[in-house]
Amino acid sequence: MPFIDVRNLHHTYALKNGGTVHALKGIDFTVEFGEYIAVLGANGSGKTTLALHMNGILQPGEGKVTVDGWSTADPGAVREVRRRIGMVFQSPDDQLVATVVEEDVAFGPENLGVAEDRLAAVVRDALDRVGMWEHRLRPPDQLSAGQKQRVAIAGALAMNPRCLVLDEATSMLDPAGAREVVGIVEDLHDTGMAVLTVTHKMREAARADRVIVLSGGELVADGPPSWIFEHPDLARWNLRPPPVTVLATRLRPHFPGLPAGLADAEALASSLVTVGQS
Ligand SMILES: Nc1ncnc2c1ncn2[C@@H]1O[C@H](COP(=O)(O)OP(=O)(O)OP(=O)(O)O)[C@@H](O)[C@H]1O
Ligand SMILES: [Mg+2]
Repeated sequence: MPFIDVRNLHHTYALKNGGTVHALKGIDFTVEFGEYIAVLGANGSGKTTLALHMNGILQPGEGKVTVDGWSTADPGAVREVRRRIGMVFQSPDDQLVATVVEEDVAFGPENLGVAEDRLAAVVRDALDRVGMWEHRLRPPDQLSAGQKQRVAIAGALAMNPRCLVLDEATSMLDPAGAREVVGIVEDLHDTGMAVLTVTHKMREAARADRVIVLSGGELVADGPPSWIFEHPDLARWNLRPPPVTVLATRLRPHFPGLPAGLADAEALASSLVTVGQS
């Protein structure tokens, strides 16, 4: 049984004017324990809607989402689902609720009923894992955007989830802040955490084991980043390949052994050296 199983998922939003938006049109995919998946797609393709289904914030209009066997549509399973899936959103300001960092991180486990004597250790561990322990007594509104996002991740980690779902978690950060957050997410993945990350940044998607692509509410591709980045329909999905991939594609006629889908300059440089020597 996969960790997350999404079957024929449809979602329709009702608009105030009586109209509807069919945002997800029969999505099928699975996430295995420990897998690292990036979700790509143009604006309005349904990425956030999909992310909100992973922990039952939204309910399927049709179809089913199960997390570790628990259906998100089962009111009795909400707790089980939310314990397993940690959510991190685009804007850290919207996620931090307390006036002191450590209280913010304690909020989730306290609500879950974690005993007082264990709470301090849970909070310490979560803040340690994102490198924010020394900032535990600061008010969140005095932190940088990157630090706030790390506290938001700690808040998710304090629930001891099996999977982190991130919706454009780096898009409001400067490059250094984004790198820090990506680094933390990768470290968590290395310790066995499954990751589903919605992103517009191809370089971040390049780090995933698998990329799924949404277009117009449909899942149109599911495969390794190297395959997605050189997919002939990329432009049709309103996605642009990473510049390094474009360069590698142009270089391939001159260096026939160059691997597909190279997405960062380091990988291209070392591949050119290898191919040039053979
Ligand atoms: N609360 C809502 N009420 C009505 N329609 C909505 C709502 N949220 C999203 N939609 C519509 O559903 C579709 C999918 O939106 P969604 O936010 O999931 O896309 P997205 O891929 O996350 O886009 P973006 O890249 O801009 O974040 C869009 O047509 C959007 O306008
Ligand atoms: Mg979105």
